Amino acid sequence: DIPELIDSCIRGKLKEAYRDTVVSTVAQKGALLLEDYHPGRILEKVLLAKPEEILKDIEDAGLRGRGGAGFPTGFKWRLAMEEKGDLKYVVCNADEGEPGTFKDRFLLHKHFSRVIEGMCVAAYVIGASKGYIYLRGEYSYLKERMEETISQWKKDGLLGEDILGKKGFSFDVEVRMGAGAYICGEETALIESLEGNRGEPRNKPPFPVDTGFLGDPTIVNNVETFLWASLICEKGVEFFQQYGTSKSKGSKFFSVSGDCRREGIYELPFGITIDKIVELSEGVDIKAVQVGGAAGECIPKRDFHRTIAFEAVPTGGSIILFNKDRDLLDVAENFMEFFVEESCGQCTPCREGTIKILEGVRLLKEGRCSMSHLEKLMELSETIELASKCGLGQLSVKAFKSIVENFKEEVLGRLPEEG
Ligand code: NAI
Ligand code: SF4
Repeated sequence: DIPELIDSCIRGKLKEAYRDTVVSTVAQKGALLLEDYHPGRILEKVLLAKPEEILKDIEDAGLRGRGGAGFPTGFKWRLAMEEKGDLKYVVCNADEGEPGTFKDRFLLHKHFSRVIEGMCVAAYVIGASKGYIYLRGEYSYLKERMEETISQWKKDGLLGEDILGKKGFSFDVEVRMGAGAYICGEETALIESLEGNRGEPRNKPPFPVDTGFLGDPTIVNNVETFLWASLICEKGVEFFQQYGTSKSKGSKFFSVSGDCRREGIYELPFGITIDKIVELSEGVDIKAVQVGGAAGECIPKRDFHRTIAFEAVPTGGSIILFNKDRDLLDVAENFMEFFVEESCGQCTPCREGTIKILEGVRLLKEGRCSMSHLEKLMELSETIELASKCGLGQLSVKAFKSIVENFKEEVLGRLPEEG
């Protein structure tokens, strides 16, 4: 019984703080409700197989990156595996910075061993000997505990030289702190930061799989992607594939917040409708749902039948509900302020364009933006999308554009009367 399950998970805990939010799930065999996990046991099994066999499972499962872009994980790992060279790296992107996203914090807090195990699996497959976890600056309170877990893994022979007696398989993991810049969640900016440089995105290609950390082959995956990789190795391809759509297999963790009674972390299958998420989280009088955080789309109620999947409405996991009393121009202003603040400033469309859009939103709010100026803002948004160097700039106007396009009546009602 789904409501009962959610109830038992959530009741009484969520309003205190997100720090200790708990998982609720519509998946009856939800991944994190499994209680028979023992650190290292998956690795024991994995090391009995050849790297190619493990990679085939990840590919067959159809695992796609859980950070938001949905790139096929197996393919990324294969590209890195096929690269020559002794030095390869596995990087866990724990720089979770998307507004409204807090599922990785939960996974790092409660299921960190599974994440390490996924990193070990990746290292075994691609032939890496060093791993880094790039932890969001604001999550520094998690660091000590994570390092204790890593030390325990080393003591137990699960990290270090010749892991579990497997000659030639050595892998070590280190936590590195971010310093509060959203852009460092972009993988090449993250790598720059890991190298000790200013966190600015590089041109892609080359991709990190061939030219990553210190110029060597590197895979960068989201926290949740590693967790699912370990689960696929433990429970098998069929377990993973029991949920999802043909192009977005499995279930996913979502951070649900906003105007609802049941904020928190949900494990939900891909293909779920927005309507269902509103229902499960007990949203009240919801008129809009922001899917994908500040970099995502603002969906109006008439489109709540749309589904969450990489081929439909994609998200790294952020779902924010807005009720009928919310001014969506406040939302647009808030997100644009965020991007103005977080733009690394390297390229003009993003650095200057986001400021112009923010100014425009403020004019709209004050009833001083003409129709022709609004049209110019929409044109500028397209330029920013097309000409920005990295995902931050390209996605910075998505919320603004979708608010104007999907809530025309509300936005046009703010234009000054003609004459
Ligand atoms: P992307 O599509 O450029 O790349 C995705 C991944 O696939 C990267 O690891 C990239 O190296 C790899 N890749 C792509 N094409 C490749 C190729 N031809 N060869 C080898 N590797 C290849 O997307 P990007 O810019 O890395 O991420 C954008 C996404 O990040 C957005 O969907 C956004 O929603 C999400 N995001 C998530 C945040 C969070 O806190 N979780 C924060 C901000 C954005
Ligand atoms: Fe920096 Fe923005 Fe350009 Fe990305 S798009 S490189 S964040 S200025």
